Amino acid sequence: MKILILGGAGMLGPYVARELADKHSLRITDVKEPAEELPGDFFQLDVSDLDAVVEAAEGMDAIVNLSVLRRDRQIAWDVSTRGCYNMMQAAVTHGIRRVINTGPHLTVAGRNITECFDFGIGPDIPPQSGTYIYAITKAMGQEICRVFTLHHDISVQTYLFCHFVDPRSSRLGDKRVPYAVSWENAAEAFTLGLDIDLDALPSRCEVFFVFADMPHGKYSNEKAKRILGFQPRRDVELLWT
Ligand SMILES: NC(=O)c1ccc[n+]([C@@H]2O[C@H](COP(=O)([O-])OP(=O)(O)OC[C@H]3O[C@@H](n4cnc5c(N)ncnc54)[C@H](O)[C@@H]3O)[C@@H](O)[C@H]2O)c1
Repeated sequence: MKILILGGAGMLGPYVARELADKHSLRITDVKEPAEELPGDFFQLDVSDLDAVVEAAEGMDAIVNLSVLRRDRQIAWDVSTRGCYNMMQAAVTHGIRRVINTGPHLTVAGRNITECFDFGIGPDIPPQSGTYIYAITKAMGQEICRVFTLHHDISVQTYLFCHFVDPRSSRLGDKRVPYAVSWENAAEAFTLGLDIDLDALPSRCEVFFVFADMPHGKYSNEKAKRILGFQPRRDVELLWT
């Protein structure tokens, strides 16, 4: 498959690129140059530039969006919200039916809303991002993707993460987080999402929490396991031992 990756030169991008490179042909893009050599073709592209995104998507079979800007209000909107609009418009233009979007768990379970009290929180709760700029701009992008799927034959899978860990890091045990996944394990979800028969998905817009099994059970990765076939690795065990 020919895959366009947006925001591929960040922290997660190289893991996803290495995971997909053997099976797929990659067109990796980012507003900045990658810090390391990535498999596939790379060129600079600003996701807030509609024409550039549409042009980059020509000839592609799928789009993976890893781009994010967390702080500055205007740029966060341009990247995390408008970037999704541009991606979906590019998918419509070129008849691309498979899109994988990403974001933080905060797009559905915003800070201080659910984390204090609830357990077994899944990705299909009524979304409540709160007003944190990172969460709300990503949540609006996610909503734009959802609306496109109502009107076009495009399937969007949104993978939500909380905290990434490097199992080799000695600081692994320091962090107390709602949930976590290793970079490599997270990248495996993208292979699953690219392989899955789109008709096997319950709808054209599905959201998944992607993380390792966590003993506190505050969040649930059951849907990712059941539908994507995601297999959580036990490589973040140090977080709770
Ligand atoms: N890193 C984390 O701890 C974490 C946690 C939860 C969710 N996520 C999600 O995972 C995904 C990947 O995040 P990451 O950790 O790789 O983040 P990152 O900040 O390392 O990478 C994001 C990339 O987006 C690029 N970008 C910014 N503005 C752009 C623009 N105008 N045009 C094109 N690219 C642009 C950046 O240059 C960067 O390379 C994001 O959707 C993020 O919300 C990350």
